[in-house]
Amino acid sequence: MTQDEMKQAVAKAAIDYIEAGTIVGVGTGSTANFFIDELAKIKGKIEGTVASSIASADRLKGHGIPVFDLNSVSEIAVYVDGADESNKHLHLIKGGGGALTREKIVAAASSKFVCIADESKLVDRLGKFPLPVEVIPMAQSLVAREIIKKIGGQPKLREGFTTDNGNIILDIHGLDIIDPVKTEEILNDITGVVTNGLFAMKPATVLLLGCQDGVKTID
Ligand code: 5RP
Repeated sequence: MTQDEMKQAVAKAAIDYIEAGTIVGVGTGSTANFFIDELAKIKGKIEGTVASSIASADRLKGHGIPVFDLNSVSEIAVYVDGADESNKHLHLIKGGGGALTREKIVAAASSKFVCIADESKLVDRLGKFPLPVEVIPMAQSLVAREIIKKIGGQPKLREGFTTDNGNIILDIHGLDIIDPVKTEEILNDITGVVTNGLFAMKPATVLLLGCQDGVKTID
């Protein structure tokens, strides 16, 4: 199986977690795009969606799937999204596509987080993938200094990129994250940080991992 075939397989498997008449939280990225395309096939069964990015909202609308504003919705049954890295505890690094803040918001509003990824994303320890941090632009230098002081690594500006919220991203290279919950807390406490890409305080509920021999469920 190619990487895309594995992504497609997990996107298909995630459909089993969707209950009729509910609102579905939808993530961002190439794996989430496969999921959106699968969701289109059962669109009559769901009430609608809440999207974690403008790009995903556009793709959903393109399929004729209703997209609601989070403020008009009281309950999201399931959030489905990809990840850049996951450990076996389902702590994740997300934000490779820069949508981490809205992803964390929609995940927080959802009862269940079904993470879908190909096998390359499962790691023993998080941190090889540069950890994205969304930052208020005027705080860029301050936040970079604080990151180095508090957790180490090399924060680098994601050049030419602005988030859907009008902010910048610092990608922290060279980390070896021994305690993802603690690291998430430390980064959250830095003034000027909007969100960091660690999803450890509230990890995924289940990971559907696309492997050569099929979809593995880790929970
Ligand atoms: C976007 C994300 C994505 O879920 C993550 O980057 C994985 O993307 P892909 O499915 O394309 O590998 O967090 O902000």
